Amino acid sequence: MNLTGRHFLTLKDYTREEILYLLDLAETLKEKKKKHIPVDVLRGRNVALIFEKTSTRTRCSFEVAAHDLGMGTTYLDPSGSQIGKKESIRDTARVLGSMFEGIEYRGYGQEIVEELAAYAGVPVWNGLTNEYHPTQMLADMLTIREHFGTLEGRKLVYMGDARYNMGNSYMVTCAKLGLHYTACAPASYFPGKELTEECRKYAAESGGSVTLTEDADEAVRGADIICTDVWVSMGEPDEVWEERIRALSPYKVTADIMNKAGEQAIFLHCLPSFHDLGTEVGRKIHERFGIADMEVTDEVFESAQSLVFEEAENRMHTIKAVMAATLGAEL
Ligand code: CP
Ligand code: NVA
Repeated sequence: MNLTGRHFLTLKDYTREEILYLLDLAETLKEKKKKHIPVDVLRGRNVALIFEKTSTRTRCSFEVAAHDLGMGTTYLDPSGSQIGKKESIRDTARVLGSMFEGIEYRGYGQEIVEELAAYAGVPVWNGLTNEYHPTQMLADMLTIREHFGTLEGRKLVYMGDARYNMGNSYMVTCAKLGLHYTACAPASYFPGKELTEECRKYAAESGGSVTLTEDADEAVRGADIICTDVWVSMGEPDEVWEERIRALSPYKVTADIMNKAGEQAIFLHCLPSFHDLGTEVGRKIHERFGIADMEVTDEVFESAQSLVFEEAENRMHTIKAVMAATLGAEL
């Protein structure tokens, strides 16, 4: 398997074998990290980390992973670069591509990361756009595989806004890897028709399936993995909160939902999560709408079925695998 020079933008352009190869590599890198075996084979190289939206996990994962691989990093924060304001994406891509061996981009439209990739001349990695969050998918799949031992045939149910980056990405990844994907949401929050059709084609090849339903009780029965995400994503306007709370509250992940799924089910969330009043946003929403949690209850979040912190750790190991593979690291 040789992924040298490849971009990492949606996972749509990766085969099942390539995705599994990245998971295997992540597993190896994780083992080495635990045993303190150095993997700094990319010494002397540098990567640029562009964040037009904020981050804890993705930024730290790219930085730690790059440093473990021996690379230098330059972090460009949401206000610290000329991108899009005084310099076009195309020009930025050519400038950064001449100085760095790889570029991570987190920001808004998918077309921005695609344009960066088209002009950079070095691998570009999508660290989250409005439409996709592919590095998160590798972490989730690694966590699922570590827990159950297998991916194929597992039933994954995503509850919430299934039209956005996390919902879209779960649908793509499950369909590629032969999992049974269910988007459980009000119909107006179902993923787009075109992407759904595309994923159904992947699923027909992999033995997976794609189901869209509004019926939460029916959706979660026998599920292996229940996932959710925040109801309002970064960059969305404050005005949408009211409508989201109204529409998505029936799809909150509660103890009742987990019980209906069964005791085999695990809970995943990309984080950050609004499961208590420990955040500024959580407290503001509590004042405005009187609710103390949103997409998941604190009870489920803190339960033994919740693997959210294992999932968060796996961000680093999987991102390391993506950089190592696409930069041609010999490990
Ligand atoms: N899950 C995730 O991408 O987290 P951050 O926004 O903290 O990077
Ligand atoms: N849907 C969320 C994911 C955060 C990791 C957002 O885009 O804000």
